[in-house]
Amino acid sequence: LASDAQSAFDAAADPDALEVARVEFLGAKAGRLKAVQKGMGKVDKADKPAAGQKLNAVKQSIESAFEASTKRLACGESGGATEAFDPTVPGRPFRLGHLHPITQTIERMKEIMGRLGFTAVEGPEIEDDWHNFEALNIPLSHPARDPLDNFYLGVAENGSEVGGQGSGTTRAAHGPDGKPLLLRSQTSTVQIRVMEDTEPPVRIVSLGRVYRPDTADATHYPMFHQIEGLLIDKQVTMADLKSVLRMFCQAYYGEQEDVHVRFRTSFFPFTEPSVEVDINWQGGWMEIGGAGMVDPNVLRAVGYDPEEVSGFAFGMGVERIAMRQHGIRDIRDLYANDVRFLSQF
Ligand code: PHE
Repeated sequence: LASDAQSAFDAAADPDALEVARVEFLGAKAGRLKAVQKGMGKVDKADKPAAGQKLNAVKQSIESAFEASTKRLACGESGGATEAFDPTVPGRPFRLGHLHPITQTIERMKEIMGRLGFTAVEGPEIEDDWHNFEALNIPLSHPARDPLDNFYLGVAENGSEVGGQGSGTTRAAHGPDGKPLLLRSQTSTVQIRVMEDTEPPVRIVSLGRVYRPDTADATHYPMFHQIEGLLIDKQVTMADLKSVLRMFCQAYYGEQEDVHVRFRTSFFPFTEPSVEVDINWQGGWMEIGGAGMVDPNVLRAVGYDPEEVSGFAFGMGVERIAMRQHGIRDIRDLYANDVRFLSQF
């Protein structure tokens, strides 16, 4: 009986099966041990002590077999704690995040321009009329000031600042100079802020967000990033501008091949002459931004003497450069915050 019980308990694969086996052998009413106990009455008086001892021994061994199986199942349930700890098993790697591809691009650009002697500076994203337009030689009548091309700030009737203008409950937000405030539409604003605060020579880059009310599509987004460069010194020429841009692009794109830079004549109010900058990379020309020699009106606006100093400035779209580098086709993918997309970079 004891060995029957032992093998029935050993065979139980879960607590329910073990309970069935327990009732079969140790059940208080119809258990097989109970049946033997009931048979004790028929044993001869002389044999009774020996039979009683034997019964007790069997009972004990069945009970301890039951306890052993109970323990076995309990351990199994708590995740195999009976298994030895193996220090040679490799750990499970945990998922690490990383920088956004645009942040990576920005860091790399800063690093390259740093090697060329340009210090990175930042400016505010909410700008006033003076820094976004006036000091950059953009007159009041200029179409660049069009409300349809800029995010002018409004003030809700309750006093808090909100984007947009013209709805019944907002009025235009004004700076201390009484002129409108807006989200900067270009990082050229930072040129003015730096020149106002420093004496020449100046050698800075500024990287950051700019805002334009474009409808989002594969190549447009109402917020994007620019890198702006400014160099002011004595006798700076366009040849210096082209050299710096070529060195920058060679360092950024040119691990395997030479990168060429091409200028096309253009117009910006704050540079004269002005150019569009194209680079030749992977067999095609692509436009990467605008540049030019800082307009004397801009130098005068910040208190510099155009007879004394000259300089160049350039502005490039960070997204466009990053997208070309990684083969990203849709700018919206960068801002959808989908880890399946972002984890690729
Ligand atoms: N600010 C210009 C733009 O956003 C780019 C630019 C910067 C052009 C500096 C010339 C000099 O398009």
